[in-house]
Amino acid sequence: MKIKGQHFRTIWLHETDPVIQIIDQRFLPHQFIINDLHTVNDVFMAIRDMQVRGAGLMGATAGFGMWLAAREAADKESFEDFLSAAAGLLKSARPTAVNPEWAVNRQLLAIAKGNTIDEKIKIAKNTAIMIADEDAEYCRRLGNHGITIIEEIAKRKKGEPVNILTHCNAGWLAFVDYGSATAPIYEAFERGIKVHVWVDETRPRNQGAGLTAWELLNHGVPHTVITDNTGGHLMQHQMVDLVITGADRVTRSGDAANKIGTYLKALAAQDNNIPFYVALPSSTFDWQLLDGVKEIPIEERSDAEVKYVYGLCDGEIKKVLITPQESPVANYGFDVTPARLIKGLITERGICPANEKDILKLFPEQMKAGYIKRD
Ligand code: MRU
Repeated sequence: MKIKGQHFRTIWLHETDPVIQIIDQRFLPHQFIINDLHTVNDVFMAIRDMQVRGAGLMGATAGFGMWLAAREAADKESFEDFLSAAAGLLKSARPTAVNPEWAVNRQLLAIAKGNTIDEKIKIAKNTAIMIADEDAEYCRRLGNHGITIIEEIAKRKKGEPVNILTHCNAGWLAFVDYGSATAPIYEAFERGIKVHVWVDETRPRNQGAGLTAWELLNHGVPHTVITDNTGGHLMQHQMVDLVITGADRVTRSGDAANKIGTYLKALAAQDNNIPFYVALPSSTFDWQLLDGVKEIPIEERSDAEVKYVYGLCDGEIKKVLITPQESPVANYGFDVTPARLIKGLITERGICPANEKDILKLFPEQMKAGYIKRD
């Protein structure tokens, strides 16, 4: 994606040094800061502290983290012990999104194939690059599938703008490039279809107001930021044609965990007969889970995120208390939208209804590989 005319991915390898570079998302949209990650611990902190965030990008970052871990492990008494501790650390950083776990497991399988430590390090580097490239490519492809939904609505509306509501940030900042929920939108925009995006601000961390709005603005896509509680009203007044969100973990039966508040949007969409789609690359499926509400771990985050907001004041980013200091606070990071509220899943292989049979029709190798545990 382009920022002021320059192409950026959200994560990349330093040109000469064994260092990973990332855009530090904590300061967007007000400051554009690039951070260097030297060690697996740097990578762990970057994921935990949300310098990087979003399922796909966390997966790609964890993939690179395993390469740094393999380099560090070479100097340790036991290469294997260090690597397995690093894998555990990276998986623990953000529990709801499945992508970091998926990337770390993929790395462990790949690295095990190396015969020497040097070979293992080389494999880890190549696998990390592959995970990142695949993430970008799969998002690009899912955009090409998702655009058919927008095209159909545009035809029906005879060229009037298609109004799409999205929640949180499932844009290119949440992946290596393109994004999931935004990929069909960017594709439609590129092809000259008129689109307008309602951007939920997404309390408590405001990824919609800060990140999605910044992305769309940079790209020139018409959009309007709304408070989280506005969507239902807009839907009742025919001001939303379509909802597309991302996901952090989707069960093989199609239940989707996404940023807290997504479920309420899905309920409002159903009540108003508005199609609700979830866009995801296949790395976000958790093939072993069936019941998302019962089985997907929901991250509980610090009360500080609810009590304080950050914003620009006199040219400086400032933190402001918005609750009584002593009030107790609960901060659930995600919720699960049951498959029955989802019209379809937009993936790199196509769009399918959110149910086990149709998902496995698109990804039959998951059955054959025996990754799926039957209860
Ligand atoms: O807590 P975050 O910012 O990592 O949350 C992730 C999200 O932005 C959303 O849940 C997103 O829609 C899915 S990640 C592609």
